[in-house]
Amino acid sequence: MSRHPNIVILTGAGISAESGVPTFRASDGLWENHRIEDVATPQAFRRNPTLVQTFYDQRRAFLGQVNPNAAHLALARLEAAWKGDFLLVTQNVDDLHDRAGHNQLLHMHGELNSALCTRCGAARPWTGPLLGNPTCPACRQPGGLRPDIVWFGEMPYHMNRIEAALAACDLFVSIGTSGAVYPAAGFVGWARDAEAKTLELNLEPSAGTPMFDEARHGPASVLVPAWVEEVLGSR
Ligand code: OAD
Repeated sequence: MSRHPNIVILTGAGISAESGVPTFRASDGLWENHRIEDVATPQAFRRNPTLVQTFYDQRRAFLGQVNPNAAHLALARLEAAWKGDFLLVTQNVDDLHDRAGHNQLLHMHGELNSALCTRCGAARPWTGPLLGNPTCPACRQPGGLRPDIVWFGEMPYHMNRIEAALAACDLFVSIGTSGAVYPAAGFVGWARDAEAKTLELNLEPSAGTPMFDEARHGPASVLVPAWVEEVLGSR
C-alpha cells in the first residue's frame, strides 16, 4: 500500500542569513562581538545578568528589522501542500519561520519572543525588553524573567517529539546549519537509523556533510525554493 512520505526538516542560522540575521560561527569565533560563553550559558547569566539581558533584548528588538526570505517562504509552501507528516525543527531563536506560516514547527533552542520565569517556571510570549526586572505575567513577581533560550549546558526543547518524528521519517533535510552543536548535529544519524533519505542544503560543506546521502551547496534562498518545487512537482 502506498503512503505519503514523512518529512523532517532541521534548520539553522544559515536559513536566516539572507534575511540579515548574523550566523553564530563567524570566522572570528565571536557572536555579534561576544564570546558565546559570555552570553549563552547559565553561568554567564548569573555572573552578569545585565550584559546577557541587554544582548538578547537587542537581538529581540532587531527582529522588527528583518523579514522571512525566499527559503522560509518555500518551506511554508511545502508544509501547506504536503500530504504526509511534516515537521520543521529549527535551532533558530528568531521568528522568521513563524512569520512565514507554519503549524508544525518546533523551536528546539527556544525563542527570542518568549520569556521564561525562573520563579514559577512559566514561559510566556514576550516582545519587549527583559532588562529592568519586569513582572512575570503568570506569577506576578518581578525580577525572575530570563530569555526563553536554551543555553549551553541546558536541555533542548521538544526532544521526545523530535525523536519520534525522526524515527518515522522517510526524508530528512538539514538546511543552513554547521553541524557543530549536538543533539541537532546527530539528527542525521537518527534519520539514517530509520532508513530515511538524507539531504543537506548549506552554503558550504559542513562538519556533517559525509553523513548525508546527498549534499547541495549554495545560498538557501536559491537552493530551498528549487528543492521545494522539485519535491512538490514530483508528487
Ligand atoms: P552556525 O553559525 O554554526 O552555522 C551556520 C551555517 O549556515 C554554516 O554552515 C554556514 O555555512 C551556513 N550558511 C551561512 N549562510 C548561508 C546561506 N545564505 N545559505 C545557506 N547556508 C548558509 O549556526 P547553527 O548551525 O544554526 O545554539 O548553530 C547551531 C547552534 O549553535 C545555534 O542554534 C545556537 C548556537 O550556539 C544555541 O544558542 C543554544
